[in-house]
Amino acid sequence: MAEYDLLIIGGGPGGYNAAERAAAGGMKVALFEERALGGVCLNEGCIPTKTLLNSAKIYESALHSSAFGVTVEKASLDHSVVVDRKDKVVKTLVSGVGAKMRGAGVKVVPATARILGKEPDGFAIEACGEKYTAAKLLICTGSEATVPPIPGLREAVESSLAVTNREILDIRQVPESLVVIGGGVIGLEMASYFSAAGASVTVIEMLDKIAGPTDREISEILKSNLEKKGIKFALGAAVTSVGGKAGDGYVEYKAKDKTERVPCSLVLVSTGRRARSVGIGLETLGVLTNRGAVVTDECGRTSVPGVWAAGDVNGKSMLAHTAYREGEAAVNSMLGIKDSVDYRAIPSVIYTKPEVACVGETVESAAKVGIKASEHKISLRYSGRYVAENEGGDGIAKIVVDDEHKTILGVHMIGTYASEIIYGAAAMVQRHDRVSDVRRLVFPHPTVCEVLREEMFAIN
Ligand code: NAI
Repeated sequence: MAEYDLLIIGGGPGGYNAAERAAAGGMKVALFEERALGGVCLNEGCIPTKTLLNSAKIYESALHSSAFGVTVEKASLDHSVVVDRKDKVVKTLVSGVGAKMRGAGVKVVPATARILGKEPDGFAIEACGEKYTAAKLLICTGSEATVPPIPGLREAVESSLAVTNREILDIRQVPESLVVIGGGVIGLEMASYFSAAGASVTVIEMLDKIAGPTDREISEILKSNLEKKGIKFALGAAVTSVGGKAGDGYVEYKAKDKTERVPCSLVLVSTGRRARSVGIGLETLGVLTNRGAVVTDECGRTSVPGVWAAGDVNGKSMLAHTAYREGEAAVNSMLGIKDSVDYRAIPSVIYTKPEVACVGETVESAAKVGIKASEHKISLRYSGRYVAENEGGDGIAKIVVDDEHKTILGVHMIGTYASEIIYGAAAMVQRHDRVSDVRRLVFPHPTVCEVLREEMFAIN
């Protein structure tokens, strides 16, 4: 008989949440984590970056407070104190996850787990010289930053001239100049913080717009706001080489047939992440992968019966909140409860100032799946609270509606509180709400989210 009902590899949001749910469902669970509980999200992603960005927000508010009748003399940002606070926040939350696991009765094994294969007793895992067996296995090993094969970049990483999202969180001194390779979520959030902290920041992005799949107009509004803060952008730019030494380097890129060289003291590589599926023994079971990502169905089942996967390792959405849902859907599927993740309604947020938050389709993406849709735009200045709290804000919200049924397919926003408003929009998308349904909802007043209600009345 297997010792456990479920063995989970990886204690990030996918793994620890699934462990709690599985234990609540009556399963005997062991969770393996080789670093700290909480995974990338808690230790080197979502939480530390939000801590840094909040300090930047407070500092920028102090700098611009006179417009609001508040005088702050000699405002300054002490990066070292910000990093100490970030460490404190992370420590608190990591120990909170530990307490949750203890409370749920989950056995946490703080070690690297390796799958040994399927044995008569079930799936076998080795960790720290001990063997564990269970009837079911859940893979939540997450993802890692990619370092593209740019000449000189690997050497730059080795010499610490270049860093990834992990190392940059622990640097104690703000670099004089920072080049960010990749204008996606990580690149923009880090560019925002380090620019506020005093670095001269240049973002080099291969595409002709920042923020990846974000609505083009919203991407442009974000770029113009970040430019006003002094961040420079090179778009449609292919990085050709990185050189120099730590503290004194350069990045060269080619854009419109011209080669430019940007001197810098630090380089951040934020060109995307890839699933972590190698070296854990998946091959002993023959679990199917596609370009390193574990192939799963809508409730997390892999190609091998009894083995599930959730979170970044499946390469689908690479967001902590998706990992939570995927872990839950996997556990429900193990328990025989019908469940699946609705990937249409997963919100995404960029925590810059202004914030960007989106959910669902754009007109273009709807067209690709054969739906004729229209976009309805409203300025956030229709919100009394937005006007009261922002000087010259240029935030907008766009609602994407299916032309035939007037169903809400997507909401895309830039501006204050967008990150907190978007879950309501996600609920509309997930429930297939129609414009007429939302017209009957009561929104609190005065709030920024009210613009969504207002816009519903402009849609015919
Ligand atoms: P990303 O995929 O968001 O952006 C990478 C960007 O780098 C793309 O725009 C790409 O065109 C560009 N790029 C790639 N190679 C390049 C090159 N050689 N030269 C110039 N540009 C190049 O990846 P990112 O920012 O590294 O984030 C990784 C993951 O972490 C994402 O899946 C993201 O969703 C997640 N994340 C989410 C956060 C949030 O929800 N707020 C915060 C941080 C990360």
